[in-house]
Amino acid sequence: MKHLIDPTDFTKEEIDEIIEYGEYIIANRELFRDKLRYHKLATLFYEPSTRTRLSFTSAMMELGGNVLGFSDARSSSVAKGESVGDTALTVGNFVDVIAMRHPLEGAPYVASKVSKVPIINAGDGSHAHPTQTLTDLLTIKRELGHIDNITIGFCGDLRFGRTVHSLIKALSRYKGIDIVLISPDEMRLPDYIKSDVCDKLGLRYKEVRSIEEVIGELDVLYMTRVQKERFLDEDEFERVKDSFVLDCEKLKGAKPDMAILHPLPRVNEIRQEVDADTRAAYFRQVENGKFVRMSLICKLLEWKDDPSHSMPAHPEYFQDPGRHCRNTKCICNHENVTPLFHETEGGIVRCVYCDSKV
Ligand code: NCD
Repeated sequence: MKHLIDPTDFTKEEIDEIIEYGEYIIANRELFRDKLRYHKLATLFYEPSTRTRLSFTSAMMELGGNVLGFSDARSSSVAKGESVGDTALTVGNFVDVIAMRHPLEGAPYVASKVSKVPIINAGDGSHAHPTQTLTDLLTIKRELGHIDNITIGFCGDLRFGRTVHSLIKALSRYKGIDIVLISPDEMRLPDYIKSDVCDKLGLRYKEVRSIEEVIGELDVLYMTRVQKERFLDEDEFERVKDSFVLDCEKLKGAKPDMAILHPLPRVNEIRQEVDADTRAAYFRQVENGKFVRMSLICKLLEWKDDPSHSMPAHPEYFQDPGRHCRNTKCICNHENVTPLFHETEGGIVRCVYCDSKV
């Protein structure tokens, strides 16, 4: 059975199949009205969301299916101390597929280990957000006509922005990708992505401090919000919160067909005046999110009993009672799960649940 916890759980071929099927759905919406009649999706959202939860709901409804779940874990048995695994096992009796968002990193992974139905990670802490990645890939394809051979600038909070982490991982599978990282020092991309993804897989990247110096090179500008809720130090947040703001003046230096993406919500990093620019693709991106989730749900159900679509095996994962994951936001420090580790580039040992260095 296939779950979607991390973008690399899918092969490049599987990702391309989902994107292409999403495009087919867009062109043939009426064919899908009853596609998943009598099927159910659960949305288990332990953390706030507007777009992701509603687009999952809308996607399932547009396929003729039904949706149940919660958007506030305080109203569920979680408030009584139920574990993520037990909740997934329980809800799996009621539905065909589960989308889960959780503030603890690795929570959807833990759920996938016990679940009888496919689990979709709808965002876990600062770690990953693979369905936003599918949305972003479909958007790039529709805006530019291709995903290979592009220069993409990531701007803003590259440290805590899980959508950035997941998209970079996914892009490492495409040809001719150049990445430009635009952020202040406090919000730079985590080392594990630079070493284990960019360096290891040969993804070219450079780090710069301003949008202006690179905007003319970019095919895609991926703006992000500073993730206030993930800063442990409020002063640090105050210092960086208005670091990068995109306005029409800065856009004067950009290519005429550059696409501006943003996973949304925006705070003030894109001025409203930019919305009228034809290059502003972020609201089209929202709509693509629904279509790609329709595609994903169909494919996960289609692949469920097909052994040629199983999860990647990780024989290299190991236990070690002498080691601890120090990430306070990792599920292994909150629930009774077996700490697991793996060795990555340069002999660095990382936690399997959250990828932080141990
Ligand atoms: C993002 C998220 O939740 O990570 N939003 C989304 O899912 N569209 C980005 C964010 O919250 O800044």
